[in-house]
Amino acid sequence: MQHLRRRFHLLLLLVLASLSLTLSLNKEGLYLQKAKLNFDDPNAALSNWNPDDETPCKWNGVVCDSSSSSVVSLDLSSSSLSGPFPSVLCRLGRLSSISFYDNFINSTLPDDDLAACVALEHLDLAQNYLTGALPRRIAELPRLKYLDLTGNNFSGEIPATYGTFQKLEVLALVENLLEGVIPPFLGNISTLKMLNLSYNPFSPGQIPPELGNLTNLEVLWLTQTSLIGEIPDSLGQLSRLVDLDLAYNALSGSIPSSITELTALVQLELYNNSLSGALPTGGWSNMTALRRLDASTNELTGGIPVELCELPLESLNLYENNLRGELPAAIAESPNLYELKLFRNQLSGELPSDLGRKSALWWIDVSTNKFSGRIPDGLCSNGALEEFLLIENSFSGEIPASLGECRSLLRVRLGHNNFSGEVPAPFWGLPHVSLLELIGNSFSGGIPKTIAGASNLSQLILSVNKFSGNLPEEIGFLENLLEISGNDNEFSGPLPVSVVNLAQLVKLDLHNNALSGGIPKGIDSWKKLNELNLADNEYSGKIPGEIGELSVLNYLDLSGNRFSGEIPISLQNLKLNHLNFSYNHLSGHIPQDYAKEMYRDSFLGNSELCQEIEGLCNRKEMKNKGYIWFFRTLIVLAGILLICGIVWFYIKYKKFNDVKRNLDRSKWTLMSFHKLGFTESEISEALDEDNVIGTGASGKVYKVVLSHGEAVAVKRLWGQSKAGADVERGAIQDDGFDAEVETLGRIRHKNIVKLWCCCCTRDSKLLVYEYMPNGSLGDLLHSTKSGLLDWPIRFKIALDAAEGLSYLHHDCVPPIVHRDVKSNNILLDADYGARVADFGLAKVVDDASGKGTMSMSVIAGSCGYIAPEYAYTLRVNEKSDIYSFGVVILELVTGRLPVDPEFGEKDLVKWVCWTLDQEGVLGVIDPKLESCYRDDVCRVLNLGLLCTSSLPISRPSMRRLVKMMQEIGSRSLHKNVAKEGKLTPYYYEEGSDHGSVA
Ligand SMILES: *[C@@H]1O[C@H](CO)[C@@H](O)[C@H](O)[C@H]1NC(C)=O
Repeated sequence: MQHLRRRFHLLLLLVLASLSLTLSLNKEGLYLQKAKLNFDDPNAALSNWNPDDETPCKWNGVVCDSSSSSVVSLDLSSSSLSGPFPSVLCRLGRLSSISFYDNFINSTLPDDDLAACVALEHLDLAQNYLTGALPRRIAELPRLKYLDLTGNNFSGEIPATYGTFQKLEVLALVENLLEGVIPPFLGNISTLKMLNLSYNPFSPGQIPPELGNLTNLEVLWLTQTSLIGEIPDSLGQLSRLVDLDLAYNALSGSIPSSITELTALVQLELYNNSLSGALPTGGWSNMTALRRLDASTNELTGGIPVELCELPLESLNLYENNLRGELPAAIAESPNLYELKLFRNQLSGELPSDLGRKSALWWIDVSTNKFSGRIPDGLCSNGALEEFLLIENSFSGEIPASLGECRSLLRVRLGHNNFSGEVPAPFWGLPHVSLLELIGNSFSGGIPKTIAGASNLSQLILSVNKFSGNLPEEIGFLENLLEISGNDNEFSGPLPVSVVNLAQLVKLDLHNNALSGGIPKGIDSWKKLNELNLADNEYSGKIPGEIGELSVLNYLDLSGNRFSGEIPISLQNLKLNHLNFSYNHLSGHIPQDYAKEMYRDSFLGNSELCQEIEGLCNRKEMKNKGYIWFFRTLIVLAGILLICGIVWFYIKYKKFNDVKRNLDRSKWTLMSFHKLGFTESEISEALDEDNVIGTGASGKVYKVVLSHGEAVAVKRLWGQSKAGADVERGAIQDDGFDAEVETLGRIRHKNIVKLWCCCCTRDSKLLVYEYMPNGSLGDLLHSTKSGLLDWPIRFKIALDAAEGLSYLHHDCVPPIVHRDVKSNNILLDADYGARVADFGLAKVVDDASGKGTMSMSVIAGSCGYIAPEYAYTLRVNEKSDIYSFGVVILELVTGRLPVDPEFGEKDLVKWVCWTLDQEGVLGVIDPKLESCYRDDVCRVLNLGLLCTSSLPISRPSMRRLVKMMQEIGSRSLHKNVAKEGKLTPYYYEEGSDHGSVA
C-alpha cells in the first residue's frame, strides 16, 4: 500500500513538473510562435521551434543575448518561407537584426508596425516577393544601419522620409520597380557608406549633385537607373569612394576632372553611356588605389593619359570609344595588370615592348585599332595569357618564338594584320588553343607535324596568307576540329587521308590553292559537314558517290578543278543552297533534280556535259560566221522591239493601276536568297484560306504545294500602312525590312529553317520558308500525339534547337537575337530534326510598324516565355532568348504548357520550382517518359532551371549550353551514368566573349 502511495506521489510530481514546463515558454517565445503561424513552411525550417521549450534561444535562426536571454537576432535566410512579414517580431524589444533574405515573403510591409522595431539595426529582406510602396516610417528607427530590400517588387517613388535616416550606412534597393527620379535628399544621409539603386525603372533624371555630400560613401552603384545629363563635379568629394558604377545609363558630356580626386577608388565602371570627350588628363596619379577602370562603350576621344597607366591597375577596359594616340609605355609597369581591353578605338603606335613582363597578363584585346609594330616578346612571360586578340590592326613581323611556349593560350586571333614569316613550330601545337585565326596576313611556310599537339583545336583559320607545302597527316588527328579554312594560300599536294576522321567537321574550305590528287575514301563520316569548298585547285579523279551521304551539306563547290567522270546520282539526296561543279572535265548525265535551267551556272565549262540543259556548251554546228552575225542582228532587233513593248505596256499598266489600285496582286518585288524552283506568281495564286496552317501575332501561314510537287510554307505578314499619307514613311521602313530580311535569308545552318525568299507589294509581305512536315514542337508536344516523342527524340530536339540558337547568337555578325523563342517556333522535319523558325522577325515587324515600344511589348515574346528582367528593362537580348529556351526545355521535360490554368498564378518555371520543393523530381517529370532515362532527364531539367534563373547573369550562354548538352548526350551514350535519383546542380564557369570582330 505504501509502495503504491509512493508511486502516486512520484506521478503527481512528474505531471506537475511537466505542466510547469509547458507554461514556461517565455513571452518572446510565444511571439515567435505567433510569427511561425504566419508562415507557410514547406521545408520545415521551423520544425524545431518547439512550444514546449522554455526559451526560443535554441531554435533555428534565433540568437539570444547570453545574459538576459532576450532574442537579439533572427536569421531565416533561404528557408523557403512564404507569407507576409510578421509584424509581431517588432514586439521583441531587443531584436536588433532580422534577415529573411531569399524567401517568398509576400504582400506589403506593415509600415506602422515596423516603426515599432526600435532596436533594429539590420534589416535584410532582399530577394523576396514584397510589393507596394517602400515603408515610409522605417526612417524613424533610431538605430537602423543596414537596410536591404533588393530584388523585390517595391514600386512608387523613394519616400521623402528617406532623407532623415539617422545612422543608416547601407541602403540597397536594387532590382525593384521604383519610379520617379533618384531624389536629392539622399544626399542628407551623411552616415551612408553604400548606396545601391541599380536596375530600377526610374524616370530619366540627373545624378543629384547632393550625393557629393555623402563623404562617407564607399560604394555608389547606379547601373541602369535612367541617368541623363553630366556626371556632377561634386562626386569628386567622395574621398572614401571605392567602387563607382554608373554603367548602362545615358550620361553625356565629359568625365569631370574631379573624378581623379577619388583617391580611394578601386573600381570605376562607366561603360554603356553617351559620354564624350577625352578622359581627364591630369590627376590620375592621385588615384593610387584604382585597380579596375571600365569606361568602355562611350564616346571618349583623345588619348589615354600617362598618369592613368602609372596606377596599380588590374583591369583597364576602354573598348568601344574613340580614343586616339598611343598606349603609354607606363602601362607595362602595372604589376597587377591582367586584363587589357582596348578594342574598337583609333589607337596607334606600338604596344609597349615590356608589356606582360611585369604582370601576369591574362586577356589582351586591342583589336580594330591602328596599332603597328611587332608583338612584344614578353606577353606571356608569366604563363597566364589565355586570350590574345589583335585582329584588324597593322601589326607586322613574325610571331615571337616565346609565344610558342605559351601553353596557357586558349584563343589566338591575329587576323587582318601585316604579319609575315613562318609561324614557330611549337606555336602550332599549343595544347589548349581552340581558335587559331591567322587570316589575312602574309605568313608563309608550311604547317608542321607539331600541330598534332593542338588537341583542343576547333577552328583553324589560315585563309588568305602565303602558306605552302602539304597539309600534314596530323591534321586528321585533331578530333575537335569544326572548321578548317585555308583558302587563298599556296598549299599543294593531296588532302591527307586522315581528314576523313574529323567527324565534327562543319566547314572545309581550301579553295584557291594548288592541291591535287583525289577526294579520299570515307568522307561519309563527315556527318556534320555544312560547307565543302575545294574550288580552284588541281584535284582530279571522280567525285565520290559518298558525297550524297553528307546529309547536312549546304554548300558544295568543286569548280575549277580537273574532276572527271560522271556526276554521282546520290547528289540528289542533298538539299544544297550552293552547288558549283563548273569548269571541270565532267561527263555523262546531270542528275535529274539538277538538270534544270536554274542550275546552268553550276555546270558550265564541262564540255562533255551537254544534254540536259540547253545551251550549256557552245553548239559546234554554228560554224558559219555570217550566219551567226545574221542571228545576232535578229536577236538584237527582237530585243529592242521587246523593250519598246514592255515600256508601252508599263505606261498603260500604270494608268490602269491608278484607276484600280486594289488589284495589284501581280506587282511583287522578289528578293531571293537561295536557288528558287518556283515563281512568285505560283505562290501568290495559292494563298487560299483553305491552305492556312497557322496564324500568329505577325501574320498567317499557308502551306503551298508547288508545281514540281515540293511544299513550301508561306507567311503573309499583316499589312501595315493603308492611307497614302503613310506611304513615304513606309518606304523608308521597308528599306530596314529588306536589309533585315536579307540578313536572315543569308543564314545557313542545319538547325535553322531556310527562308527561301521574300516577296513584297505595297501592302503585303510574303516570306517563303521551307516546309516542315512534322509541324511545330509545341503543337506536337501538347497534343495527343506527344507519345511519339520519347526521351531520345526530345533530347535531340533540344540539342538541335540549342545549336540553331547558338549559331544565331555566336556565329552571326551582327549576332541575331531571336526574341520569340518558344516551342511553337521550333519546327520538326520528317525525321524530327528540329529547326528554329521565325527568328529576328519580331524586330522586323516591330520596326516596320513604327509604333515604338508599345507594340514591342506585344511582340517581344510570348506569354510564359518572357524573361523576368523584361518587366523592368524593356530590352531583349541574348539572355532573354536563353530564358525562353529554358522554358522550352522545361516543356520537354514536364510535357506541360508554359502557362496552364492548373498552375494558378504561376507559370511553368515557378510551377517546376514549387513542385520540386513539394514533391521532388518525380512530381515534375512527364510521366510518359520511360524511367530508364531518368538520370538524363534530371540533368536536362537542371539545365532548364539554369537557363530560367531570374538573374540574367546566372544563365549560361547558348554556346556553353550546347557544350553541356553534348556532354550529357555523350555520357548517356557511354552508359557510364551514375545511378543517383536526386538533382545535383551543375556549376559551370561562363566564358565571355566581346565578339569584337568576326
Ligand atoms: C502569400 O503567400 C501565402 C502563402 O504561400 C499565400 O497563401 C498568399 O496568397 C500570398 N499572398 C499574396 C498576396 O500573394
